[in-house]
Amino acid sequence: MPARVVAIDGPAGSGKSSTARAVADALDFAHLDSGALYRAFTLAAIDHDLPLDGERIAALAGALPVRLDRTPAGYRPEIAGVDVSEAVRSPAVTARVSAVAALPAVRRVVNAMVRAAAAEHPRGVVIEGRDIGTVVFADAGLKIFLTASPEERARRRLLQENRLQDAASVAREAETLEVRDHADANRPIAPLAQAPDAIPLDTTGMGFDEQVRRIVELARKLFP
Ligand code: DC
Repeated sequence: MPARVVAIDGPAGSGKSSTARAVADALDFAHLDSGALYRAFTLAAIDHDLPLDGERIAALAGALPVRLDRTPAGYRPEIAGVDVSEAVRSPAVTARVSAVAALPAVRRVVNAMVRAAAAEHPRGVVIEGRDIGTVVFADAGLKIFLTASPEERARRRLLQENRLQDAASVAREAETLEVRDHADANRPIAPLAQAPDAIPLDTTGMGFDEQVRRIVELARKLFP
């Protein structure tokens, strides 16, 4: 059992990654992006032409292996010893990851990897995802549920990827995010949801530093 876990859940594009990373830096905790692990499983399945079969994908991930590598900056997804943190961001992976993440066998393995990584960490871990506060670490000391309006999330995502053009591009991206969130929030197992004891943080119109400051303040009170 890890001493200290900060769980940050929320829909796609809510700013979880940049926020979780900055919070981890400020606390001197490690950053762990569980979505990146689902993406690594998806990338492995695509590269090996596997169908949507959880047992086969989980077996492939064990054989390659797909794992989390602990670095000073946090945990990175690795396939067969190669850092895939960039490769897992490809549009092909993004298009398929929701379906792979809905497979129970895949979720079982990912959850075990995330829990093992957190348990071995000497200081503490900021873990981002969709079900960290509800399932993976239902007893996390601090749970944050990050949200932002669909337009704001779409704008941030496009800016981050250098694809921000006009209002139409924002509307299109908002629709894409909406489809993924709908799939993630309506699957039967571990859907995207706010834990009853999570602190909601709507970051629409909030400065980045401000949202980080609020979470760090809460964490410092809990984990002095
Ligand atoms: O955060 P992200 O967009 O990189 O996540 C990729 C996908 O993985 C997303 O569609 C939902 C899924 N996911 C999940 O089901 N549970 C998690 N804890 C994290 C991500």
